[in-house]
Amino acid sequence: MKVKFTGKELNLKRIGILTGGGDCAGHNAVIVGLLRRIEQANLALPSDERMELIGLLEGWKSLIRDPEKELDKIIRPLKLIDIEESFTVAGTILKSSRTNLFSKENIEKKMPNQAMENLKKMKIDCLVVLGGDDTLGAAGKLGQQYTFPMFGAPKTMDNDVFGTEMTYGFESSVEESVHFIENCRTTAESHNRCFVIEVMGRHAGWVALWAGIAGGAEVTLLPEEVVNLDEVIKKVEKSIAKKQHCIVVVSEGARLFDTRYPEAVNKRHQEMLNTVIADPKYAIVKARHEMPKKKDSFGNEQLGGIGDYVMAILEKHTRIEYRYQNCGHAIRGGVAHVMDRILGLRYGDAIFDFMKTGSFGVYPGLEADKIVPRNLLEVKGGRFVPQDHQLFKMRNAADYY
Ligand code: F6P
Repeated sequence: MKVKFTGKELNLKRIGILTGGGDCAGHNAVIVGLLRRIEQANLALPSDERMELIGLLEGWKSLIRDPEKELDKIIRPLKLIDIEESFTVAGTILKSSRTNLFSKENIEKKMPNQAMENLKKMKIDCLVVLGGDDTLGAAGKLGQQYTFPMFGAPKTMDNDVFGTEMTYGFESSVEESVHFIENCRTTAESHNRCFVIEVMGRHAGWVALWAGIAGGAEVTLLPEEVVNLDEVIKKVEKSIAKKQHCIVVVSEGARLFDTRYPEAVNKRHQEMLNTVIADPKYAIVKARHEMPKKKDSFGNEQLGGIGDYVMAILEKHTRIEYRYQNCGHAIRGGVAHVMDRILGLRYGDAIFDFMKTGSFGVYPGLEADKIVPRNLLEVKGGRFVPQDHQLFKMRNAADYY
């Protein structure tokens, strides 16, 4: 397909596509949505303008491997007939990795340049990158530095990418979390227990917020709020008095201590934690507390485990039986729910429209149910839950009694 790129004619024939960062529901839908349009357009194009969609395997890692030595590990040419139904499942048929093309080490090794050389060797005319802010940011930089036609699509279960009201992957994770909460609730009811349930979402609490409300959680703790465990205890006790059980949903990024917290809250949480750590019954919490923090190649802290602290502190300070469950990766995988199928297909369809009209360097964002082009160079993470959001004040069912 002939289009204009930086004022010149470009015959887009081999379109590369990769998925970067954590997998999620909707990746396959974007791929299918784009491939549908490509194969449809090919029906009317002269043979020297027909397009192919070339899957690049394992995210950016595909571009720092040697295509002359291991092409079979790098590419997967895509045909609709083979992958058409993949949009109903989560994960990515192209595999993913958390490779940071622009890490200090990779810049020193001239990897961005290598990636560009490899794209040329594989005769890729333009690249579509599906990922969160880190992956999309790298696409923006690469496209700008080497004047290469790039597109993106905003994924992440966390729903925290700037420029869109919803990322694909989010809604499926919420559905799975709600299912998890409901399953725990029947046991909580049967045994008069309190369940502390942790959900992923990095530093944005959208998954916890939606899942907590939809799952009827009595308390939901978010990274965006000042967590006050004395207040949480009051809510738990109210729930127990009313219905003999309770569900506390904790976002993995919620914090016990923070510089933005009032000093008295940090101090009180420290006292509470000290009593837990001194108790051999909570040796796991002590071990977790002393463990060095791990980081991924983008420098993001590996989260998970805050629910362990919350459960131990609540158990130590109330007279109720508790269980802690971490949903972990189980809410990111499995089936792609309807919203993510639709959103992914829409994003794939929109990328083709951008391509056709020569609007390069963009990713589709959702705004009031319309698709709008967003500049890859402006992408950033950190789309947090605003404290004046209607759902923020609705997050604790226990506040209503
Ligand atoms: O970025 C999405 C996310 O699912 C976060 O919610 C979570 O903190 C992280 O990925 C987990 O990453 P990994 O799959 O590398 O353990």
